[in-house]
Amino acid sequence: LNASIEIDFLHPEGAIDDGIYGQFIEHLGRAVNGGIYEEGSPLSDANGIRKDVLEKIRGLRPSILRYPGGTFTKIYRWMDGVGPRSERRSRPNLIWGGVEDNHFGTDEAVAYARLLNTDTYFAVNMGTGTAEEAGNWVEYCNGTQDTYYANMRRKNGHADPFKVKYWGIGNEEAAGPDIGRLQDVKEFVKEAWLYTKAIKLQDKDAKLVLCGADDAWNDHVLKEMGPVCDYISMHHYVSSDKTKPASLFPQVDNMEQLILTLKRQIQTHTTEKVTDFSKWYRFPHRANGVKISIDELGIWEPGGTGAYQLEEYYTWEHALGTATFFNIMIRQASIVGMATWAQTVNVLAPIMTSKTASVCQTIYYPMQFYRRHAGNISLKAAVTTPDLQVPGSKDAKALDVAVTMHEADGSLVIFAVNRHPELAIKADLRSIDTKYTPVTAYELNAAGIDAVNTLDNPAKNVVTETEKQLRGPFTSYTFPAHSVTAIRF
Ligand code: AHR
Repeated sequence: LNASIEIDFLHPEGAIDDGIYGQFIEHLGRAVNGGIYEEGSPLSDANGIRKDVLEKIRGLRPSILRYPGGTFTKIYRWMDGVGPRSERRSRPNLIWGGVEDNHFGTDEAVAYARLLNTDTYFAVNMGTGTAEEAGNWVEYCNGTQDTYYANMRRKNGHADPFKVKYWGIGNEEAAGPDIGRLQDVKEFVKEAWLYTKAIKLQDKDAKLVLCGADDAWNDHVLKEMGPVCDYISMHHYVSSDKTKPASLFPQVDNMEQLILTLKRQIQTHTTEKVTDFSKWYRFPHRANGVKISIDELGIWEPGGTGAYQLEEYYTWEHALGTATFFNIMIRQASIVGMATWAQTVNVLAPIMTSKTASVCQTIYYPMQFYRRHAGNISLKAAVTTPDLQVPGSKDAKALDVAVTMHEADGSLVIFAVNRHPELAIKADLRSIDTKYTPVTAYELNAAGIDAVNTLDNPAKNVVTETEKQLRGPFTSYTFPAHSVTAIRF
């Protein structure tokens, strides 16, 4: 199969926000308890942190940690999760089942984010909670004055503010079946203003993520709240139809269309800078343009195990889909400001645990690969590619490409995902001077698209990364079947 890649060096897409390498963890099944945290386990430290899991997450070098939900936020009382553990309240987890003992709460999440060296992103309760409670939480975390909740944090052993940077106003508030009460967007906006006041007047630097949903919802939120909206959220989960080969990819690719639609809405309803403050008196407005926060991004196949059947094994094909997600976010870098993978451990996750071991799933490796190799500037490229036939659905591209540049040393990285299950693709590399060396091609691959890593044999990794030194000049590169490649010039 043949393809071509022609890079446009004159019109870069823009800077790639580090925020796209985020992770999300919720009090759901074994994501927190039994995932990142397991008191009394021989694999945990004295604070209950699973050391093996921490090391694996560190391997991804995440930039942001989103917590405590998800839908769980709609019942979460942050006060349950602070102070001495022995005095914390246990409550039924009314969203996901089981009992939440609250031994892992705000202080532990912030400490965990520090272990990972990430920014923190907390989502507040718009279900059973109030704007006032949300404001108190901000005061507890970020307050610097001699005030009640800031002093409560100090009393709990944390003299310095936590500096929680991002605050999510709601989570999937448009969703009907759970405990949400703001499915009508007008109700949401009315309430979200109260939360905005409560949060921003506690911390003028708080970055707000407003809950997004369908087009009509997003239009309204952006129109009404644009001046205080740093980010609008998008959730994107994909699944495949096992009877139809490659059916995952059109759904993965659809994320790009959704991003472009939301980008147009942002451009229609908001301006880059806020200049009219009359309506926003006393409200610190946003300083930059509105960006998209894809704060739940994941692969949700039916038929897993565990709570809500959300524990599942991912094949190498899923990993190719994951790599494509990163290509899309790079291609749309000027509007995608952050993304947090849903979720980090056990629940739809790149890392799985048992009581005695943990394993990195196939999808872990592309996450690590992009983090390691991507530059900080996104360049556009014109790509021709053969199609991948997807029965009963629109065909997908066989070769998916994104291009980045490392500003620090000017090096260029072409990412190419060959999603064809059997055939290699030879791509002409146009507008690139390949006579300069060294040129290195890094390739991730597995024996076939069905390959999986499992807890049955955690030491076995079906994913390989190879490195090839290339001698220029060359005019084309052949991407092997089902591979993820980064060529660094
Ligand atoms: O990630 C699992 C769940 O999916 C989250 O709690 C919710 O926000 C989404 O529907």
